[in-house]
Order: sequence, then structure tokens, then C-alpha cells
Amino acid sequence: MKYYITTPIYYPNSSPHIGTAYTTIAADAMARLRRMKGDDVYFLTGTDENAQKIVRTAENAGMDPLTYVDGIVDKFKEFWRLLDISNDDFVRTTEERHAKVVQQIFTMLYEKSDIYKSEYEGWYCTPCETFWTENKLVDGKCPNPDCGRNVELLKEESYFFRMSKYSGRLLQYIQDHPDFIQPTSRRNEMIRFIEGGLEDLCVSRTTFQWGIKVPFDPKHVVYVWLDALINYISALGYPDGEKYKTYWPASVHLVGKDIVRFHTIIWPIILMALDLPLPEKVFGHGWFLSKEGGKISKSRGNVQDSFQLIQRYGADPIRYFLLRELQYGMDGTFSEDDLVEKLNSDLANDLGNFVSRTLAMVVKYRNGIVPEPGEDTDLEREIRDLSSKVKQGTEEKMLACDTAAALEVIWQFVSRCNKYVDETAPWNLAKSEDNQDRLDTVLYTFMECIRILGILCAPFMPGVPRKIKPLLGDTDFFKDWEQADSWNVIQPGTAIRKGEAIFPRIDVSAYLEQVNSEMERCVTQVQGNTGHQQEVNLEVSPSQLGNLQQMAEMVPLKEEISIEEFAKMDFRVVKVLQAEKVEKADKLLKLEVEMGGERRTIVSGIAQHYSPEALVGKKVILVANLKPAKLRGIMSQGMILAASQDGELEVLTVQKDLPTGAQVK
Ligand code: MSP
Repeated sequence: MKYYITTPIYYPNSSPHIGTAYTTIAADAMARLRRMKGDDVYFLTGTDENAQKIVRTAENAGMDPLTYVDGIVDKFKEFWRLLDISNDDFVRTTEERHAKVVQQIFTMLYEKSDIYKSEYEGWYCTPCETFWTENKLVDGKCPNPDCGRNVELLKEESYFFRMSKYSGRLLQYIQDHPDFIQPTSRRNEMIRFIEGGLEDLCVSRTTFQWGIKVPFDPKHVVYVWLDALINYISALGYPDGEKYKTYWPASVHLVGKDIVRFHTIIWPIILMALDLPLPEKVFGHGWFLSKEGGKISKSRGNVQDSFQLIQRYGADPIRYFLLRELQYGMDGTFSEDDLVEKLNSDLANDLGNFVSRTLAMVVKYRNGIVPEPGEDTDLEREIRDLSSKVKQGTEEKMLACDTAAALEVIWQFVSRCNKYVDETAPWNLAKSEDNQDRLDTVLYTFMECIRILGILCAPFMPGVPRKIKPLLGDTDFFKDWEQADSWNVIQPGTAIRKGEAIFPRIDVSAYLEQVNSEMERCVTQVQGNTGHQQEVNLEVSPSQLGNLQQMAEMVPLKEEISIEEFAKMDFRVVKVLQAEKVEKADKLLKLEVEMGGERRTIVSGIAQHYSPEALVGKKVILVANLKPAKLRGIMSQGMILAASQDGELEVLTVQKDLPTGAQVK
């Protein structure tokens, strides 16, 4: 069977984090399971690069958008590699293979009048990349409950996509295909939304140039969501690529709850307009929230360095935690202390201990050689039956995209295995000559249980079979899912090894001690930096350590000055007229600025943060009464103000269009 699974393509405006990792890890577990079942799997992920917010972020970093996203895309690729993600392709919407399909589709829709030209007047939320009508706004702000940020008024010539024409057909389709949108609560939400009436969608912008150009009217760029959704077929080589013919329609689009609407309304209508089949299922999972509440996201500043987390705990525990924590369709919470707790209880204690204690017994009682089993008893038969149920239960839960329930089913088997050790008490059997046959059976069953656990864990934690393989005589037992309920697979006579613990316990008290001493260090540092006693609650949870560390890194304050001393400084608004690089000086830019009719030359050390073009036209703040100084032979008449942190520089500007020469006080 063919199986095509996708993740959303991520905005590369900032580095990947734990919140965004869930979808990709869940899709990976599903893809791996289907591959092990012998299906023909295609697993796609990628990045959504043509967004207006990318232009903004890049501008603020003083970089051109492509150079900016190239750096972040590399981080995404590295992140997925470290998390053992087995995607078959990675699509970037800045790639030609994607752009040409978007242009082709835009033209096709235009030619059949499903896209038409008109004028857009309404609001736009750049963080959400969404158009809003006036009546939808809440207190004049973005109505998305997770956003609530400022929206911008747009009035521009635009192309529109005739969504209204398809609303009846879409509604019918959703009603006829109960599995199309899952979970049911999201399905009902979407039905209500469509019943409220669909408006035509604005699908082009003219106020910036970054993006895919409308081929027959290149002052327009294609609206980022129309562009992004097409990735699911452009990456397969639509319209006549072999992969497209093989894999489309997708089996599942796995997405977060915030973007179900785009995937179950805009995307199906695009496909209907093109006369293409719709994906079989769109599954909308919940979010990871921080312990203090609120979605984990870069803009909320509540994310921990995820690369550091992987380095500290490894990919498997993080994968396990995320997959197990997010209950079907609901939100979950992520915190490092919960991760440590789960690692210790489920992985080190339940799974890891079973593996190490049973291997140790084969070493102790049979010199590390797997014995020939004797007669089975009801106990062994019960375990065999359970393995079939667990195998089947896991498949069913994963088919429903319920990763937490799938792992719960597997952990029933883990618990049963541990109970079997206690019930059979091999240490007692070993004491008597009469029980040696029985001991053989028990030890053999242990080894088979380890093999089966390796298979069951493989889709979720690919590191587990890798670690178990050398312990079970180096045979790769773990590729075929069907073997998760076959028995007598391991050859008696196989030499096994004890090896290291597959999940070493994390010493919680040592971990907390470490966190506490780091917090104390940060508190002292913060107090030193700010020069006054700051109340810092030492009971704060380790998940807040990140914020504290950030505060501690603040550069210490300089000594106090009087108001008179401050009043001696003269800051003015000036406009940058020209900017160029200073030859043979990597860091310096030469600026020509205008201040109330007067022109000045300024040499500024910002060349590594701003391209000359990015500065021209900007209104910036000048220290206007600074004694002129010669830099690289150029007389610099003042200094431009910029904020800096961690080597990043951002030039200060004024929001309003103030006249140059205006005083800053
Ligand atoms: N670029 C669009 C998707 C286009 S798909 C054709 C986008 N990108 S995103 O980077 O903002 O988000 C990507 C996915 O990450 C979304 O599914 C979103 O729900 C998910 N998550 C972001 N933060 C999350 C959590 N804290 N928890 C779980 N998922 C979260 O939207």
C-alpha cells in the first residue's frame, strides 16, 4: 500500500523549537511504522519561506531574506537530523521546482476565472499571515486568540480566489467523508465555519516583492498560504512527475489546530478547482503549552534551547515525551522537569530495567548463551496473546494519529514483561536442579520479549533497536513490524551481552541541585548587573531558568550620572541619504545623513548587520554633538545609536515620520 504523509512546512523566521517538533516527530513515527509494515511510504516536510514576516525579520537583522532563511533552514535540517527524522524529501518554497508549479496553478485558476482581479481593502495580520475583515477584529486587533497583535490596513489591487463558488461542494464533501477532518471537534468547527459562508480570498500582494510572482502580472506576489499549500504536490512533481502519480492524494496531512482551517477549506477548494482528488485525512493536533500556560512559541519567549535539550537527553527521550504527552486532540505541557521524570520512570525504570536485568540473568545463569526453551505454561501463552493485541492496538491508534494512546498500549506490554519477571522469579528457579528446564523457558521468553520491545519501540524511538541490536547478538530483528507477535525467532545458542543501560537514570536531586545553583548564580549576577536588590523567587520552576539566564547575561549597568551630565548630550533624528561600505574595513559603513537641511558624514560600525541598501531612507538617531573623529581616513561627524545583544545590532529608528533635526530627549 502507498502511504503519503506530510507535516506543515515551517516558517524559517526563527530556529525550530520543542513546540514545532511534535508534528514532525509524530509524522515520523507514523511513517516509520508504515515502512516496517511494508508500505510504500513517502514522508515530506519543509519550509515556508515566502511570508511577509520573513521579509520583516530579515530586514531587522539587516540581511536580505534569502541569506537569512538559508541560515535558519540549515538549522531545521540539523534539528530533524538530530531528532532522527526519516523524511524522504525537504521542500523549500524558494526552490524553482515549487515556484514553477505555483505559477502554473495560479495561471490555470485565472484562466478558468476562479481567480479574478479586484481591489482588497481590509486588514492583515503579518504574524498570522492572515487577512481579516473589519468586523472580525477584536478591539481593533488580530482576532486569533493566540495572537491578538496589531493588524495593518491594506488597500491594494489584488487577485481573488473564488472560494464562495465552492462552499456548497466542500460542505457536502466533508459531510460525506467523516474521516476527512479529525478529531471530530475540529470537523464540527469547520462545518460551522463553512456554514457561516465563505468569502473570496485575496491571493496576491503588491506592497512587497518577496515571494512568487504572478506570471502574467509580476508586480503581484502570490499570497503565502496559496503558495505554501501547493508544496504538498509541487514536491511530488505535479502535474506529471512519477512521484505525483504514485503518491497523490496524501494519506494524512498532519497539522496543528491553528492551521486546520487553511488545510480543510482553502486547500480542498484549490484541489477541487483543479479537479484533483482531496487528501484522505487532515489531522489537527493540540499545542504544547509551557507550565506557566500559553503556547510554546518564539514570540512568547518561553522556549528553551532545543538543541541543548537534545544534547542533554538524546533524541529518544524527547520523542517519547512529546508523543506520549499530547493526548488525542488536546493540548499538553512541556517542561524539562516532567521530561526528566518520565525518562526515569518509563524509560529507565520500566523499559531499561527490564532489558538490563533479564540480559544479566542470561549472563549469570547461562554464561550469556540463549538457552533452548522447554514447555510453555499459561504465563508464556498469556504474553504471546498480549503481544498480538499490543501490535494490533498500536497500529489502530497510530492509524487514528493518537500517538499517546499507542505508547500507552505498548507500555502495557512493558509492564506485563516486568510482572513476568517477578512472577517467574528466575533467581529461585536457579537454586534447584529440577527447575533448570523451566528456567530455560523463562530466560528464552525474556530474550524474545526484548526483541519484541525493540520492534514496538522502533517507530517511536529509533535509537532503541539500535541500542538493543548489539546486545542480542547483532542480528537486525527490528525491521519487520509483523514479527512483533511472532515467537521463537531468536536462535537458541545465540551469544548475548549485558552492555550499558539503554536509558541511564537521571539523578533528579543532582539535576535539581544543578538547576538551583545555576539559578543562584543567575540571581547574583542579575543583582550585580542592575545594581539593586531584585526579588527573584528561588522556587521558580526549572523551565524558567532560560529567562533567568537571559537576564543574567545582561551587560552590567554603568555608574550613575546626573541629569546635568545627561543634558549635555544632543540626540537628533536624521535621515540616511546614502550608504556604502568602507574599503578594507569589514565592520564599517560610510553614511551620508541629512539633519534639518545640513548634511553630515558618519562612519558607523554596523556593516556586519546592515547592508547599505537596507539603511538608505531610514530615519535613525544621531549623537549630534560628539567630537568629530577620523576613522580610516574619513572624518565621522557623530554616531548612530543601535541596540545590541548577543552580537546582534539593531539601529534605533522612530515610528512616526518626524522631520529630520528633531531632538531626542
Ligand atoms: N507555515 C505555516 C504552515 C504552512 S503548511 C502549508 C505555519 N508555520 S509555523 O511554523 O508557524 O507552524 C508550523 C506548525 O507548528 C503548525 O502546525 C503549528 O501548529 C505547530 N506548532 C507551533 N508551535 C506549537 C506548539 N507550541 N505546540 C504544538 N505545535 C505547535 O503555520
